[in-house]
Amino acid sequence: MTSPFPENTSATPPPGCPAHGLGPDGLRRLYGPEAEADPAGLYEKLRAEHGEVAPVLLHGDIPAWLVLGHSANLAAMRTPSRFSRDSRRWTAFRDGLVTPESPLMPVIAWQPLCVFADGEEHRRLRGAVTDGLNRFDRRGIRRYVTRFADQLIEEFGASGRAELVSQFAEHLPMLVMTQLVGMPEEYGPRLVEAARDLMKGTETAIASNDYVVATLRRMMERKREAPGADLVSWLMQHEAGLTDDEVLEHLRVVLLAANETTVNLIADGLKMVLTDRRFRAHLSGGQMTLPDALDQVLWDSPPMLLVAGRWATGDTELGGQQIKAGDMLLLGLAAGNADPAVRPDLSTPLFGNRSHLAFGSGPHECPGQDIGRAIAETGIDILLTRLPDLRLAVPEAELTWTSAWISRHLVELPVSFSPRTAESAPTAAAPPVVPATPTVPAPASPAAPAAPAAAPAPESVAAVVPRQRRSWWTALTSVFRR
Ligand code: HEM
Repeated sequence: MTSPFPENTSATPPPGCPAHGLGPDGLRRLYGPEAEADPAGLYEKLRAEHGEVAPVLLHGDIPAWLVLGHSANLAAMRTPSRFSRDSRRWTAFRDGLVTPESPLMPVIAWQPLCVFADGEEHRRLRGAVTDGLNRFDRRGIRRYVTRFADQLIEEFGASGRAELVSQFAEHLPMLVMTQLVGMPEEYGPRLVEAARDLMKGTETAIASNDYVVATLRRMMERKREAPGADLVSWLMQHEAGLTDDEVLEHLRVVLLAANETTVNLIADGLKMVLTDRRFRAHLSGGQMTLPDALDQVLWDSPPMLLVAGRWATGDTELGGQQIKAGDMLLLGLAAGNADPAVRPDLSTPLFGNRSHLAFGSGPHECPGQDIGRAIAETGIDILLTRLPDLRLAVPEAELTWTSAWISRHLVELPVSFSPRTAESAPTAAAPPVVPATPTVPAPASPAAPAAPAAAPAPESVAAVVPRQRRSWWTALTSVFRR
């Protein structure tokens, strides 16, 4: 089969054109309103038209292959000799199709990180990260989750109402991660605000990113003087001999990878336990436990819809398509999880079955999956224990999601419950972890990242930070959240 990719990829139908979801030569776009309104529907159209691997168009109508089959995804993930993680191989870069302003750049521009490395260099960088993550005691992680979940519940418990995406799911993972990374507790609230600001891609995102960088640098200076049992110290001490910049960048990758994905897992997990009759039945001795519910979410609504990507090291074949050297592949995690070859009936429950693609597979398989699951599982469990009559405050049909090409987010999860009294709240009077008035993190100098500077107006921050200072991380988070 010859390549279905058109020679000229620059033409774009005007907005409002009935064929807006289609690009040149009738190829389907993976971006734009049509694709983002119903990603699962798009994957099924592509599967019907092309089988396991489909040609698609990315922002700017740049061609790529979307891997839809479960086994084709595993093949791409597990054979790095054929499908590399090194984006510098991409022919679209070589041909000048990807401009520096392209929204693809934050995700795809090569960086000296384990995420973009293959072979020995990947083992060196990833080894330092995994050795660090594996040193955490799982019970210790659960204790942190319990403490922070209790503090969050205390913030809204007395009111009898809450919006669990913004008041719970978006806070918990970062609060726990600050402890694992080794930051003093007082950094938690501002880092959570900074991370949320970054995720939303607001005008103050650059200042927030600067705050995070300065905080991490400050942490590294402190830990050099007084190492502790934390990821900063372990990365700096690791025999792989990471440079300071490598330590900093990998700390950021860990924070980002952990936060974005785990926020989604908590939000969708909560939605499932509040709406799925099988879970309610479990509470009275029925079929679905909380770990089962999370497995089901990881199958049906993986926190990342796809991983971008892999690049063919030579001409090869995958799922019946001829892939050319330098072509880009997108690993369709959500599409692979819905492959009829492994799930002929999507309504059949998959409790206890962990062969989903949500954490990837092969050499880049997520090294933080146990931590992500522990945060989600313990956090939801604490919420259900403290607020036993927790219920959705709106009809399920009113819940909405926003999507981008990489991920999909539950917008709001309004709930109601019996207000908690002083007697029913946890005994220890924990300090609030969410500032009463959310603040915009101020741009902070590396010398004083924790200084409580007055929050500047959003416009002034955006105006004073030059565009070229936008980091990969800042930009990537805005792509996730749009
Ligand atoms: C529910 C939560 C999570 C999900 C669904 C998830 C999913 C993923 C996926 C799909 C990948 C990419 C695999 C590939 O390229 O083939 C990945 C990579 C990664 N994840 Fe996670 N993740 C989660 C939580 C975490 C947490 C909590 C951490 C850290 C504590 C973490 C750290 C990383 C890192 C460092 C990588 C890059 C690994 C490499 O390239 O070798 N993740 N994750």
